[in-house]
Amino acid sequence: MTEIYRIAIDGPSGAGKSTIAKAVAKKLGIDYIDTGAMYRAIGYKISSEGIDPKDEAAVNDMLERTQIDFRQGDIFLDETCVNEEIRTPEMSMMASVCSQIPAVREKLVQLQRGMGERKSVIMDGRDIGTNVLKDAEYKIYLTASAEERAHRRFLELQQKGEEQSYEAVLEDIRQRDHNDMTRELNPLRKADDAIELDTTGLDIDQVVQRVLEIVGK
Ligand code: C5P
Repeated sequence: MTEIYRIAIDGPSGAGKSTIAKAVAKKLGIDYIDTGAMYRAIGYKISSEGIDPKDEAAVNDMLERTQIDFRQGDIFLDETCVNEEIRTPEMSMMASVCSQIPAVREKLVQLQRGMGERKSVIMDGRDIGTNVLKDAEYKIYLTASAEERAHRRFLELQQKGEEQSYEAVLEDIRQRDHNDMTRELNPLRKADDAIELDTTGLDIDQVVQRVLEIVGK
């Protein structure tokens, strides 16, 4: 039997976590788990049902009747694929708001731990190395300057035909950094045993290569 290993990737919004994690998963033939997509899916459900994120009872009720899973890399919310719906600037902000709700984190962290239990995975998010997979074999903290991250996201949105100015994207990134780093529950921070990888000025292949070196594959 081959040994199971887990790779935890954390870092701020737009550092390239999902692009890198996806590519590394493909190279290593292991599953990729995008935990941000799970917070986005909850944000999408809360907003489409018109639930007030501050209404604890309504949020708890929604969580009880919510199912989230990945099938061949696609995210399913209650049996519907929501890959596209969760990738809007509004859902980025909704996810950031929802991720501050204790009951939401509790449910998603439990699901994520289950996903990393029986097979090798690469999981990305904000609290993977510090909380979800504290004993992961490999931990990487991916960063880049706020300006570089905003620039990358800006180009990505432009390609999708979404109209947002660079300044608005930068402001959005800064706001999410602030939310993620200052929230009470599992704030974003580098785990003491994580290797920091600054991707400013590096291209995707270079970063993937560095990660493969770190995990020794
Ligand atoms: O990674 P992504 O930008 O898709 O994540 C959306 C939001 O979900 C983040 O801004 C963050 O607030 C939240 N998140 C989190 N913990 C994770 C993954 C994402 O709080 N493990």
